[in-house]
Amino acid sequence: MKRVFWTLALALLVLAGAAGVLLLRELRGEGGGAGDRPSVAQAAADAAPTAASAASAPAPVAAPVGAATADLRARGAYLARVGNCMGCHTARGGAPYAGGRAIETPFGTLYGPNLTPDAQTGLGRWTADDFWRALHHGRARDGRLLYPAFPYPDYTHVTRADADAIYAYLQSLPPVAQQNRAHALRFPYDTQLALAAWRVLFFTPGRGDGADADPARGAQWNRGAYLVNGLAHCGACHTPRNLLGASQADRVLGGGLIPAQNWYAPALDRASEAGVAHWPREDVVALLRTGLTRAASAPPAASATPQASVSGPMAEVVLRSTQYLSDADAHAIATYLQALPERAVPPTPDAPAPPRRLMQRGAEIYRDHCAQCHGAQGQGERGAFPALAGNRAVLLAEPTNLVRMILQGGYAPATAGNPRPYGMPPYHQLLGDEDVAAVATFVRNAWGNHAAAVDNIDVYHVRDRR
Ligand code: HEC
Ligand code: HEC
Ligand code: HEC
Repeated sequence: MKRVFWTLALALLVLAGAAGVLLLRELRGEGGGAGDRPSVAQAAADAAPTAASAASAPAPVAAPVGAATADLRARGAYLARVGNCMGCHTARGGAPYAGGRAIETPFGTLYGPNLTPDAQTGLGRWTADDFWRALHHGRARDGRLLYPAFPYPDYTHVTRADADAIYAYLQSLPPVAQQNRAHALRFPYDTQLALAAWRVLFFTPGRGDGADADPARGAQWNRGAYLVNGLAHCGACHTPRNLLGASQADRVLGGGLIPAQNWYAPALDRASEAGVAHWPREDVVALLRTGLTRAASAPPAASATPQASVSGPMAEVVLRSTQYLSDADAHAIATYLQALPERAVPPTPDAPAPPRRLMQRGAEIYRDHCAQCHGAQGQGERGAFPALAGNRAVLLAEPTNLVRMILQGGYAPATAGNPRPYGMPPYHQLLGDEDVAAVATFVRNAWGNHAAAVDNIDVYHVRDRR
């Protein structure tokens, strides 16, 4: 008995010691921070076009840092859009990239810092190496560990050449003097020690040299993989997270509730959710660049399937980022998404038919409030209002987005392909929880649709968490 105790105690001590050493390395920056700052020679080698960046548009330029050419800046501007840097680093109505936008997380609120080249409050004093360290290692110029609400666990896969282009672009912006807002995180998440522990557990810096490409796949697939899992950070929303906010490595792009935002980002590898393997490639490209598939925008003759349009956070992604994708990159992303192996769906018991009274009430609400746009048969109207019949966004097992949409309404993104999107009014004041549950249940079970009924309590939770 005693021996077992002492062996266990010793084992624990060794473990604690090892954890301590790792934490210290993290805090001091030896595990991939200042210690492995690239030398000038290394940086030059890194800046050479690699397999992954060779296909990027416009053509990559291996310019020495400091002598940023107009081409390099233009490429940086394009890449900053692919990464949607503006999204988190611009306050509503504020100067572009000057920071101040609140990002809600389960651990508190963070504020995107100022990325303009102001010397006092922005990145004015940052070198290209400092910038690389932030994007690749998640460390600020002063060595501080950065919170992964800044999606560097994805950006760490970006090549040095692409990072340098983004740096050149940001440094060319007009400097804006705007002090960064302090984050408001709860203890213990506000400590560097907690962050260091998180990183030991969940963060592995990428290679960042483009050499992790899969030679067995074509250049297009590789370019798509590079964008989806790197700069475009699709997994930041579409990969489920664990309780500590880390992406679950075994369920990449498998669909997840976005913490604190209360939207469900559906699985990109399941046809029943957001998988696109069976779509014509042009529809995937259309969804990324216009926010709608061709069937949803074009007159009936063009194409009958699939009908889909983006909403909520995905509408923002299309608005700020994917609508600007070059033709080549949009096709590359589509190629990659379509090649994702279909994830098996665990068999779920068939949902019982909802109570008749609920369906009747839902039908009345639908007729009074929804049918004028979405049609008496849920057929929608091409180019204006999405069909609800057969719409997988309506049928998701997780009803959060449907309830969100009814409570909050929203706009499809304004894009070149859909310049004046129609909007949907919010119903949070007009309809009580029971009404919303009834109409949601109705649209999930009318016109051949079939999905589990929505409870008052589901609506209550969505409303409450707003
Ligand atoms: C989802 C939101 C989000 C996106 C998208 C995002 N950032 Fe950030 N970024 C943050 C947050 C939050 C911080 C602050 C992290 C901290 O202080 O620990 C941050 C910090 C940074 C920093 C460190 C700045 C400093 O003063 O310490 C840099 C540099 C940066 N981001 C660059 C970028 C670039 C470049 C992109 C686009 C490729 C980008 N960010 C996209 C949220 C985001
Ligand atoms: C900020 C979070 C976020 C990011 C980043 C994000 N998505 Fe989404 N995405 C969502 C949400 C939420 C939905 C569900 C709402 C909807 O259907 O539009 C969604 C829906 C989708 C759909 C299904 C659309 C439909 O109507 O069938 C596709 C496809 C998709 N995303 C692809 C992507 C790709 C590719 C990327 C990376 C380029 C990406 N998403 C990045 C949040 C995100
Ligand atoms: C004035 C016209 C209008 C009315 C009335 C209206 N909607 Fe909508 N609805 C829209 C538009 C436009 C969109 C697309 C918005 C977007 O993409 O963000 C939409 C989107 C939706 C979506 C998301 C579909 C998808 O593919 O992601 C659902 C679900 C929905 N509406 C349900 C309803 C219900 C239920 C009602 C009645 C309570 C209703 N709508 C009333 C115009 C309307």
